[in-house]
Amino acid sequence: MSKRVLFAVLLLTLGVIGQCAIAQSMIELRIGGKTQSFSQGALLARPDAAEIHVPVDVAYGTSTTYRAVPLADLLGGATLPTDSVLEARATDGFAAQLPMDLVRNRDPAKAVAWLAVEDPAQPWPKLPGKPVSAGPFYLVWIGSEAASVRSEQWPYQIAQLATQPSPSARWPVLGVDPMLPATDPVRAGQSLFITQCLACHRLNHAGSADTGPDLNVPMNPVEYFQPAALRRYIRNPASVRDWPGRTMPAFPQEQLSDREIDLIIAYLAYMAQRKVGR
Ligand code: HEC
Repeated sequence: MSKRVLFAVLLLTLGVIGQCAIAQSMIELRIGGKTQSFSQGALLARPDAAEIHVPVDVAYGTSTTYRAVPLADLLGGATLPTDSVLEARATDGFAAQLPMDLVRNRDPAKAVAWLAVEDPAQPWPKLPGKPVSAGPFYLVWIGSEAASVRSEQWPYQIAQLATQPSPSARWPVLGVDPMLPATDPVRAGQSLFITQCLACHRLNHAGSADTGPDLNVPMNPVEYFQPAALRRYIRNPASVRDWPGRTMPAFPQEQLSDREIDLIIAYLAYMAQRKVGR
């Protein structure tokens, strides 16, 4: 063999080794007591994986295209207790509680969830302002009502998806007085809090997230924030205080209206009277 051919063979071999050396991340699925793990490669090779276009991608803030698997296919049809949720846990301590009927929907006239899978050979770009991408596993929404899915219901860097009882059944200390009328604004605030805040914050020590501070113990923000500053902080934390390691996101109007911020603050103020285990 000539030196040139030998060199080419060497390069090719290195290339092949390089391909094999790309580490594959795994995602764990625990659905109704059954646990399975999937690698990026296994998901990308599934016959139901498809190229999808996401017109308004919440994590990237632009339109994006992914290779993805319909989430409903992965979840299957197991019968689960009513009000069950799918808890999506991310590697950074974020944990979203997603209603089961939302994640299982396949009707494109509503919002349809897809699990986008990063191809290790073609890494995704970094998230705006972050040193990492949304991969390897990112839950995205398409369909006519995708825009109505809240910002914290687009978990990225997912490590595990697990079915769980509803948050208020799992953590009674998040609950309000059962005598409170169904139409009380505090109840609406509680449900917004569970969707948009519990993904990062605990309250009364309850919740799965490890990202932000507990919002009731030892002190509740309504006890030490001026009301206007608290409202302003939830809308856009950087407008109150900022530093390079800040992680609390801003909530634009389309993700939380002024009225909805007031409802969340009403729930926080109510819970300040129901502290557990300081
Ligand atoms: C993606 C994660 C994330 C979400 C979602 C989130 N927060 Fe935060 N929040 C944080 C983190 C982390 C901090 C600590 C400051 C920081 O690092 O930015 C924080 C700080 C706060 C503080 C200030 C506490 C203090 O004493 O300094 C308040 C109040 C707050 N969050 C309220 C909320 C409310 C209300 C919601 C829901 C509408 C919410 N957060 C959603 C991550 C989050």
